[in-house]
Amino acid sequence: MALDPHPDTFSVEFLLNGRATCAENLPPHTTLLDFLRSRGLTGAKEGCAEGECGACTVVMVKDRRAGTAYVPVNSCLLFLPMAAGQEIYTVEALAGNGSLSEVQQAMVDYGGSQCGYCTPGFVMSLFAEQHRPGREGPCDPHSMAGNLCRCTGYRPIRDAARELGPAPEGAFRARLANPAPRLVPVSCPGFSRPGTLAECLALMAGHPEARLIAGGTDLVVEANLRQRRFPYLIGVEALEELRVFRASAEGIEIGAGLSFAEIDERWRAMAAAPPVPRAWDDWVPLFASPLIRNRATLGGNLATASPIGDGAPLLLALDARVRIAGPRGERMTPLDSFFLDYRRTALEPGELLVSILLPAPLPAAARFYKAAKRRMDDISTVAACFAIDLDDGGRVLRARLALGGVARVPLRAVEAEEAILGRRWNQDAVRRARDVLARTLHPIGDHRGSAAYRLALAGSLLEKFWWEQQEELAA
Ligand SMILES: Cc1cc2nc3c(=O)[nH]c(=O)nc-3n(C[C@H](O)[C@H](O)[C@H](O)COP(=O)(O)OP(=O)(O)OC[C@H]3O[C@@H](n4cnc5c(N)ncnc54)[C@H](O)[C@@H]3O)c2cc1C
Ligand code: FES
Ligand code: FES
Repeated sequence: MALDPHPDTFSVEFLLNGRATCAENLPPHTTLLDFLRSRGLTGAKEGCAEGECGACTVVMVKDRRAGTAYVPVNSCLLFLPMAAGQEIYTVEALAGNGSLSEVQQAMVDYGGSQCGYCTPGFVMSLFAEQHRPGREGPCDPHSMAGNLCRCTGYRPIRDAARELGPAPEGAFRARLANPAPRLVPVSCPGFSRPGTLAECLALMAGHPEARLIAGGTDLVVEANLRQRRFPYLIGVEALEELRVFRASAEGIEIGAGLSFAEIDERWRAMAAAPPVPRAWDDWVPLFASPLIRNRATLGGNLATASPIGDGAPLLLALDARVRIAGPRGERMTPLDSFFLDYRRTALEPGELLVSILLPAPLPAAARFYKAAKRRMDDISTVAACFAIDLDDGGRVLRARLALGGVARVPLRAVEAEEAILGRRWNQDAVRRARDVLARTLHPIGDHRGSAAYRLALAGSLLEKFWWEQQEELAA
C-alpha cells in the first residue's frame, strides 16, 4: 500500500528490526501499522484498527522491572510520531538464515495456524513471552489473550506456547543484556513529546488546541474509527514526573503516565509498598488485554471520564486523590469530585493529571466486579468496587461503594454508604444498602443493558461482595 504525501508532514526516526529508519512526508495521523505495511512489512495485519484483535502486534524494547524486555503492543494504536526514538521489531525480523524462529516453528508443529491472518500477531506476543525477563516454567498462554483467532481454535496455539523452553541463544536474547533506548523529546508538525513537566505545561499554554496523548488506546481508536483529527498532539510518554511509583506513610503515589502493566510490576516488586489489594488483582485481568495494558495509563482512563471506564470505580473505592499540574502550580483533588458531568472533569484548560494517590491504610477488604457481555476483554455494563473496614465488633467503620455504568459519571453511592455505617455487616445491612441504591441510582439504559438491569446488577454485585467475604471468613 502506498501512503499519500501530506502538506502537514513530519519526519521521525526510530529503530525498526535493528535498522535506523526514517519516516517522512506522511500525515501525522498515520499509524505505525499503516507505515509498516507501506514499507512491505505486511506480516502485521489490520483486523479491526481498534485494539481488539491483535493481528497488528509488534514488539517494542522497554526497560521493565525484571530487565530489558520485548513488550508487545498494537501497532494500529500508535500514531507514527509516537514511535520516534523507539526500538521496534516486527514478525519479519524473527526468521533468519532460512529457518523459522522457535516460536514460529512451534506454531507450525502444533498446527496453530490455518488462514494465517492472526498468526504473526500471536507469534509476536508469544515471542515476547518467551523472552520475558525472569520467566520460569512454560510460556503463559494468557500472554496471547489480546490475540484473536477465528479458525484454528486456541488449543493448538496453547500447546505451542507450552512447548517453548527458555529464550534461545542469539541476537534477540543478547539484545536484552542492554537497556532500552531512552525516550528523548520530539517535535514535528502536529506532534510534540516534551521531556519535562515544565516543558509540557509551556507547550499546553502555547497550544490551547492541543490534546494530550499517553498510551493512545482511546485517542487513536477515535482517529481510526471515527476519523477524528487532532490539530496538535502532546505525548506524555517521556515525562518522568508522570512515571513515579512511590510508597510512603501517606500512601502510594502512582504516576498518571505509567502503563497498567508497569504499575502492576512495580507494585508487586516494591517491598515498602502495602500488599497489592485483592481488588487490584480482580481488576487487572478484566481490563482489556495484555496488549492494551502494555500501553494504557490511569491518566488516560480517568481523563477520558467514561461513565463505564474501569479505573474510576476501583480508585474511588480506594479513596484516591489526584495530583493535577497546571499554569498556576499543583493541586490535589479527591477523585470523587473529579468527574463533573458526562465526559467532563475538573481539569481546567492547561492542566494535566500527574499522579494518583491512594491514601494509607488501604481498606481491609476490597473487591472489584465487572459485568459485561463477555467475561474477558469487554467493556463494562456495570463495574463496581466495594471496600469495607469493620471494627472489632464487626460493625462498619468505613464503607466505600463505588460504581460505574449507573449514571452519567462514575460515582460513590454515598447515601448507601451512610446507611450501613456503624451497623453490623450482615445481610440486613446489605438489604438496607440495596434499598438505598435502588432509590438513589438512576442508570441510563442502552444496548449493553437496560436501566432496570443495571440497577439490579448494582445491588446483586454488592450482595456478591458480602457473600464472598463470608466465604473468606469461613475459610
Ligand atoms: C481494545 C480496547 C479495550 C479496552 N478495554 C477497556 C476496559 O476494559 N476498561 C476501560 O476502562 N477502558 C478500556 N479501554 C479504553 C482505554 O484503554 C482506557 O481508557 C485507557 O486507560 C486510556 O489510557 P491511554 O493512556 O491509552 O489514553 P489516551 O488514549 O492516550 O488518552 C485518553 C484521554 O486522556 C487524555 N489524557 C491522557 N493522559 C492524560 C494526563 N496525564 N492528564 C490529562 N489528560 C490525559 C487524553 O488527552 C485523551 O483525552 C479499552 C480500549 C481498547 C482499545
Ligand atoms: S488491527 Fe486489530 S488490534 Fe490492531
Ligand atoms: S488462523 Fe485464521 S484467524 Fe487464526
